[in-house]
Amino acid sequence: MKVAVLGAAGGIGQALSLLLKTQLPAGTELALYDVAPVVPGVAVDLSHIPTDVKVTGHGKEDLATALKGSDIVMIPAGVPRKPGMDRADLFNVNAGVVKTLAEGIVENCPKAHTCIITNPVNTTVAIAAEVFKKAGTYDPQRLFGVTTLDVIRAETFVAELKDLNPADITVPVIGGHSGTTILPLLSQVEGVTFSDEEIEKLTHRIQNAGTEVVEAKAGGGSATLSMGQAAARFCLSLVNAMNGEAVIEYAYVDGKGEHARFFAQPVRLGANGVEEVLPYGDLSDFEEKALNDMLDTLKGDIAKGEEFING
Ligand SMILES: NC(=O)c1ccc[n+]([C@@H]2O[C@H](COP(=O)([O-])OP(=O)(O)OC[C@H]3O[C@@H](n4cnc5c(N)ncnc54)[C@H](O)[C@@H]3O)[C@@H](O)[C@H]2O)c1
Repeated sequence: MKVAVLGAAGGIGQALSLLLKTQLPAGTELALYDVAPVVPGVAVDLSHIPTDVKVTGHGKEDLATALKGSDIVMIPAGVPRKPGMDRADLFNVNAGVVKTLAEGIVENCPKAHTCIITNPVNTTVAIAAEVFKKAGTYDPQRLFGVTTLDVIRAETFVAELKDLNPADITVPVIGGHSGTTILPLLSQVEGVTFSDEEIEKLTHRIQNAGTEVVEAKAGGGSATLSMGQAAARFCLSLVNAMNGEAVIEYAYVDGKGEHARFFAQPVRLGANGVEEVLPYGDLSDFEEKALNDMLDTLKGDIAKGEEFING
């Protein structure tokens, strides 16, 4: 098994690579790629940790070697938000970054599972899909927008509010990955009840949790450590699924959904990626309205990515 991290020298990239170095199964190869010249150093640094995961570092001109033979490609490359920015403000830089990296995947590992972290995820996943489609290599089962951070944040905030252990809480989060397109299904949290006011406040907090971090970092970037943890969880779930375990995760996928071409929803992962798109259950009136209100935004975000590739 080989896992490549593109953007490995960044805040998320380094946290994710550390977690993968310590948690991937023995014998896995971990290839770190970045345009930043420090990336070989990040690889040497990690290689001193005594686990049976072989780490290699690849600089700007070395994308092909990093990708060749990869089974999973994690992409946190690109610029993060600063205070006052929306995820959509990142489009101008990050759209081009994701396009270039997706073209590299087409050339070097077209069958890899591609997991996109780079924002705006609602749009960058559509960009990757269109690059793959143009090349004739698109497999919707193997392309993911990583929305795991929304799920772990929701679980943390519910536990905090209700004084429970976050490990015991499961919160479905569907839709997209920005602002109101993030839709936590609090009505489905087992063993917990909320007042209408709590639901409104908690939904708003989960939708704006990224901004909470951006503001607290005061110009120093966005979530990197919690995102590293979320991305590692998703990557390890994929690895386990490829090794024959049935694993369920929420992810932003092309599930031929009734709402939008890409939609974050529960999926059963297996050897070939998304084996089954699962239903997300009944929505409360509050959730139904929130879903209807955000769909135009989500569809617009997706169209922007499709247009970026197809004109
Ligand atoms: N999906 C999510 O839930 C989520 C959460 C937080 C952040 N993000 C996004 O993840 C991305 C990375 O955030 P970060 O905090 O790690 O940023 P960062 O600036 O710390 O790191 C980004 C890295 O990408 C590298 N990079 C830039 N262009 C590249 C290219 N063409 N090829 C390879 N590497 C390239 C940079 O050199 C840098 O090392 C941002 O777009 C951010 O918005 C997503």
